[in-house]
Amino acid sequence: MKRILAWDIPTRLFHWLLAGAFLGAFIIGNVAEDEGSLFSVHMLLGATAGFMVLLRIIWGFVGSRYARFSSFTLSPAKVLAYLKGTVSGGAQRYAGHNPGTSWTSIAIFVMVLGLVATGVLMGNGGGEAVEEIHEVLAFGTLAVVGVHVAGIIFHTIRHRENIAASMFHGRKQAGDGDDIRSPRPVAAVVFLVLTGLWSGGLVSGYDAATSQVTLPLIGQTIQVGEGEEHGEHEEYEEHEEHEDDD
Ligand code: HEM
Ligand code: HEM
Repeated sequence: MKRILAWDIPTRLFHWLLAGAFLGAFIIGNVAEDEGSLFSVHMLLGATAGFMVLLRIIWGFVGSRYARFSSFTLSPAKVLAYLKGTVSGGAQRYAGHNPGTSWTSIAIFVMVLGLVATGVLMGNGGGEAVEEIHEVLAFGTLAVVGVHVAGIIFHTIRHRENIAASMFHGRKQAGDGDDIRSPRPVAAVVFLVLTGLWSGGLVSGYDAATSQVTLPLIGQTIQVGEGEEHGEHEEYEEHEEHEDDD
């Protein structure tokens, strides 16, 4: 066993920015009024989290070894063996994601995208069901994150390895030859620039009076949250919805 470089810089940046954006959106979503400037921060953080997940998914195909989905261990048999091993102490060590973190990672990616989709739908006549799903997804994701952090704490105690630090310096204990070749600094800069452009573009493309935002890079204008203009059309939209139901 030696310390090898497992996580490239884009993956590490993504991790902490996503953690911050998610927790920020979660807390603000629970404390802020639906209207008001704090609530636009909720949407901004959520939409930035979603954008970063999209970039992470691309990175899952073109990134370095352990960032790739092909290195995730998803087979149910391996998950069971891994979980049994964590109890008995004989769990196989993984240089990249273990079966537990592979599944929690994918769950978090999918759920964050679901949060953005339902969040946007809410501003577009989505109705109460969508609001309900948004809330369930928010608390569901928080629960997955809770399991994630509990797993990290468990690993730290069991293997006496400060694994949380691996998301800062990128290094983990693994076998010889398991190293990734480069920490990928250029991709890290591209990731930061794109994420900055996206969130900056959301801020400058946002019109608080109508709660409409013109999406950066895409150019499409969409309704987010309940703007004054949106309120006027609410009755009409609800009527339309019933017709759709038939
Ligand atoms: C104190 C809090 C946290 C610590 C110490 C922590 C630590 C870690 C570590 C060590 C890994 C790598 C696991 C492995 O070796 O397989 C990881 C992965 C991950 N964590 Fe966290 N985490 C924290 C909070 C969060 C939060 C709040 C989120 C919420 C969105 C999150 C989402 C993820 C995701 C999505 C991955 C997979 C990374 C990837 O492959 O891109 N984590 N975390
Ligand atoms: C990581 C992403 C997100 C998280 C964790 C999150 C979480 C939450 C939470 C916890 C609430 C409060 C639920 C309640 O108590 O009713 C909420 C409400 C809301 N969220 Fe999000 N959200 C996210 C993304 C978004 C996005 C991207 C949008 C819109 C573009 C959005 C729009 C809304 C709206 C309109 C409400 C108000 C629902 C109401 O009327 O109470 N959210 N969100």
